[in-house]
Amino acid sequence: MHESAEHGGQLQRFGVSIEANLLTRFDRVIEQKGYTNRSEALRDLIRDALVEQEWDENREIIGTVTIVYDHEVRELSDTLTDLQHQYQKLFRSTLHIHLDEHNCLEVLVVQGRGRDVKHVADRLIGTKGVKHGKFTMTTTGKDL
Ligand code: NI
Repeated sequence: MHESAEHGGQLQRFGVSIEANLLTRFDRVIEQKGYTNRSEALRDLIRDALVEQEWDENREIIGTVTIVYDHEVRELSDTLTDLQHQYQKLFRSTLHIHLDEHNCLEVLVVQGRGRDVKHVADRLIGTKGVKHGKFTMTTTGKDL
């Protein structure tokens, strides 16, 4: 029997056939990202793919919504605040940074049923006056 891996299950080794130039590029990328070996980089890629696949509208998910907006745009701040009150059960935490005299960056952590989280993320990002918005889904960690 092998030792159990930290987060579940035995470690399995497998061979991968890959074009040399692809591997060279991969090594360069993972080095830049600070990985010390290919295995850990590959494990993260696999976990990422699993998180993407985990998406289900009824399943509990967690993610972050990042938005940049001009707080002086009429009614924009009110709309964003209204949304957060309306769906207050979904919002776990919010970070607000005043970037300059006009622009604000907000990062909102949203947790709940997939469909609700996506809906509220779309509403936030789609609010008129939001200059840029991005939803990043991650996992609650239970199944990884
Ligand atoms: Ni601000």
